[in-house]
Amino acid sequence: MSEMTGRAVTAVAGTNIALCKYWGKREAALNLPATGSLSLTLDKLGTCTTVAFDLEDRAGAEDRVTLDGAPAAPAFRDRVSAFLDRVRARAGTRARARVTTDNSVPTAAGLASSASGFAALAVAASRAAGLALEPAELSALARLGSGSAARSIFGGFVEMARGISADGADAIAHPMSAGDGWDVRLVVAVTARGEKPLGSTAAMELTARTSPFYAAWVAAAEADLAAARAAIGARDLGALGAVAERSALRMHATALAAEPAIIYWNPATLAAIEAVRALRARGTPAYFTIDAGPHVKALCAAADADAVAAALAAVPGVLRTIGAAPGPGARVVEET
Ligand code: PMV
Repeated sequence: MSEMTGRAVTAVAGTNIALCKYWGKREAALNLPATGSLSLTLDKLGTCTTVAFDLEDRAGAEDRVTLDGAPAAPAFRDRVSAFLDRVRARAGTRARARVTTDNSVPTAAGLASSASGFAALAVAASRAAGLALEPAELSALARLGSGSAARSIFGGFVEMARGISADGADAIAHPMSAGDGWDVRLVVAVTARGEKPLGSTAAMELTARTSPFYAAWVAAAEADLAAARAAIGARDLGALGAVAERSALRMHATALAAEPAIIYWNPATLAAIEAVRALRARGTPAYFTIDAGPHVKALCAAADADAVAAALAAVPGVLRTIGAAPGPGARVVEET
């Protein structure tokens, strides 16, 4: 058995946190979102992924995937392989790949690793397969792995379009230059160990099928996006924070109303929300958002980040805090 591989390409990507959430698909197979979304790509909580394709097409061979230093579990490997199949189809190859991927926080911590993971994989795998894709094409490719990954192709504030085409060519993200250089922070309050109980794809599907609030959620999204765009253009943290809080609360409200109910929060989640509101009442502008898990992320000005982190660290049940700044988009860092 030959161990020869083609060029090894290493790419890194930061995760992103949505301020206008994506929660629901208009089409499942291509991960086409039911609404647009808007996020901030972070300089922390990222993924570093190396991909090399075997030079020989060996019958029956499988992709070899290493996650955080150990062979990946079958479900993870299958998801990576399914994504690589899309890259192989496009590049006209059947070659299997070796994939080594490391998250800057443990994958099991449940901290948005799919966004940075599929963005880094899209960049590394397409390049290793000899494809030269434009950023918009990389965004569409990353979306096939995870809807939120389409946004991590770009840095800073990013908007993801819902799109209308059936093939998803217009369901892509673009960077919002109006937000460039705005020195905000996201302080992550980690409130639990372990992975989220229900993955986002299954939870979105259940919400769309059973929640009586889902249609109202979809109907409200466009107004939130417009308000967030205006807030970023005006560098109005209070206005952006207000949109972020209501988008997150409405996303969770739709999920709470699903049957069976999807409850991502734990007691520390609510305590951290209260801590953010208390900071604000005392004059420190900070605004929370929550994804498909129990962790709370607080948006604030760079100058307030230490005070916000200290307040969140003091909340019973908060295990640690991580302060993150706006970060760059996914990129190749090494090619051998
Ligand atoms: O990209 P997915 O399928 O893991 O979905 C992401 C869903 C949320 O993180 C809850 C919201 C978002 O827009 O990132």
